[in-house]
This record gives sequence, C-alpha cells and structure tokens, in this order.
Amino acid sequence: MGQAIRYSDDLEQVQPDEERISQEIVAHMAEQQAAHALRHRHAHRDAHAKSHALLAGRLAVHEGLPPAYAQGIFAEPGTYDVLVRLSSAPGDIHSDEVPEPRGMALKVLDVPGERLDPSRDGCNQDLLMVNIPVLAFGTVTRYQQMLGLLEKNAAQPALAQRGVAAVARTVEKIVERGGRPPGATLAGLASTHHHPLGETYHSQGALRHGDHVAKVSVAPTGATAELTGRSLSGDFDAIRETLVEHFATAGATYELRVQLSTDREAMPVEDAAVAWDPELAPHVPVATLELEPQDVGSPARQVYGDDHLSFDPWNGVVAHRPLGSIMRVRRLAYASSSQQRHRLNDIPMHEPRSLADVPR
Ligand code: HEM
Repeated sequence: MGQAIRYSDDLEQVQPDEERISQEIVAHMAEQQAAHALRHRHAHRDAHAKSHALLAGRLAVHEGLPPAYAQGIFAEPGTYDVLVRLSSAPGDIHSDEVPEPRGMALKVLDVPGERLDPSRDGCNQDLLMVNIPVLAFGTVTRYQQMLGLLEKNAAQPALAQRGVAAVARTVEKIVERGGRPPGATLAGLASTHHHPLGETYHSQGALRHGDHVAKVSVAPTGATAELTGRSLSGDFDAIRETLVEHFATAGATYELRVQLSTDREAMPVEDAAVAWDPELAPHVPVATLELEPQDVGSPARQVYGDDHLSFDPWNGVVAHRPLGSIMRVRRLAYASSSQQRHRLNDIPMHEPRSLADVPR
C-alpha cells in the first residue's frame, strides 16, 4: 500500500453552482417529507423513514493500531457505548418484499475531540452507512438530476415500488456519464434482498480521518458473517420480524474498518461514485462492534429511535469531518429533515448522553 495522503483543506473543491443546487435539493426533499407527513398525519425521516430496529451495543477500539489508523475517536484503545438504527432507504414506508438499499446508522456515545458544531447538544459521533459501497449519484449535480427523474416515477407507485430495477435502468442511461463505474446506479437502487445483519455497510462518502482521509465500513464477523447472502422470507415487516427473532436469543458482531486514501486522483473525495480500490488500500479493522441479545420489538424503543433521535453525518468531531459535495449538502439536508420532523410531530430534539437515556 502507498502512503496515506495527508488531510488538507484543499482536498475539497466547491462544485459549480453548488450552493444553489444544494438549496434546491433540500427544498425538494422538505416538500416531499411534508407531503408524506400530511398523508400519514405523522412526520418521518426524509430518507430512511422505515426503521427495523434500534439496538444498543459497544464499540471497542483495538489496541496497537498503526498511527495512520489510530486517529480521531480511534486514537486510543477503549470502549464506547453505541446505538445502531437499522433502516430501509426510501423516505416513505414500503413493504420489505421490495428490495431496497438498507441503512445502518451508528451513534458512538460520549467521544472526545473538538466538535464540528460546538453549539450543538451532546458529544456523540454519528456514522451513517448503507449496504452499497458507492453512491451512484456521487456529486450534488448528479444527485439533483436523479431526484427529478425518480420523482416522476414516484407518482406511479406500482412502477416505483415493484419496478425498481426498471426505474434504475432508465435513470442510469440518462444520468450516468463520465467514467462512473458501470452499473453503480443499478446497484444503488435495485439492491439485494438479504438478511440485514449479514450485510456490509459503507459510508460511501469520504471522511477526514485525523491526519488522513478515509471511507469507513462495518462488516459482519464470526457467526454473524454466516448470515451473509441469506434470503429474507416474509412480507411487509419481514426485516423487523427477523431481527426480533434473532436478538431474542443471539447477538451480532462486526468489525468497523477504515480504508485510507493513498491517491488523490484514484481515491477522490469529491465524487462518491468512485469506488476506492482495495488493491490500493485495504479495509483495516480498527474497532469491534458488539450487539448483545435484546428486545428489538419494544414499542418504546421504536418510538425513541424514530421520533426522538436523529443521526446526522455532521454530528461529530472535526477529526472525522465529512468531505465532498455530497457530504456538504448533507449538512443542510439532515438538519432540515430532522427539524421539520420534530416540529411536525411536536417532539423536542434529543441527543442521548448515555444508554441510560434509551428506553428498554
Ligand atoms: C453519502 C451517502 C449517504 C449515506 C451512506 C446515507 C445514509 C443514511 C442513513 C443510514 C440514514 C438513516 C439515519 C437514521 O437511521 O436516522 C440517512 C438518513 C437521511 N439521509 Fe442519507 N445517506 C447518504 C446520502 C444522503 C444525501 C446525499 C442526502 C440528501 C442530500 C441524504 C439525506 C438524508 C436525510 C434527509 C435523512 C433523514 C435525516 C433525519 O430526518 O433525521 N442522505 N442517510
């Protein structure tokens, strides 16, 4: 592996018209969210609306990490408490029979380090991931084009829901130009339909990793890895039912891995559609995530996770600053979605101090 590049502010480059495009994306999403809230008489997240579980666990940072990896919240060995919200990607709630990208949002509690936004409540580090390594629409410009195309199809629920792959192919033809990996769009929209605990979840976008730059992922280990590729059975609530049954008697283990950028061109921060080749830099485990058996079906837990909590890539420390235009637009998008959701449901924003704040 080559030398990990050093983080510097000039790695990021504001894209043409980025400010306007970002405002338009966020306004568009807020409108969709308000329309869904009107229909349901309850506001959900503007993306990843459907939760499957809110889990409590521990993240143990490994001892003896090489200096380039021992950065930020991983600088010292030790254990953090964590919350994990598992979800499906759309901003509305569909049947689990529809294959959709799945999300894993981690909230690492009470981390040290200078905050990205010191005015914000709490000292937690959120890490948001989905079960696809790249974001097919990896810049704000392409992301905006994709939103427009999908909106047309969303007006036809049967097509949008059952024909995800067909929609993806149409979008792919129109949006995907300029050397993006072929099929990334398809992979991004029509993803697998497997047991969510066996999946590997990726940050897709780049983050600062202290002195360096990284993408982060979480991969199953031990008995949890045996769930990889296992098909799901069931209908509307198949995933939650699977998780309730699993966590009634078993736990799950993962490794949190860091892939450092060793090449500004081949492993860029400004285009989240570019897969970082593991031949250039491997995914190195830096911490172990452990989830013990627990009650996944608890209504109090679900309401807490869905309506009280927020996970936001910009809720964290300077040492893990999100990088690139797709990450910059998320600064506006998550604040807008979370604020509108809490306002419409008349629930105060809440950031947990410890696992004692989490209902059983
Ligand atoms: C870089 C790739 C991305 C990943 C890995 C990702 C992942 C996630 C995940 C896992 C969640 C669920 C969080 C939870 O459980 O509370 C989420 C929520 C959300 N995402 Fe993303 N996302 C990405 C890109 C984007 C982009 C580009 C936008 C918009 C411009 C966006 C907008 C949202 C919004 C609005 C929410 C709901 C926030 C809330 O109301 O609390 N995401 N995302």
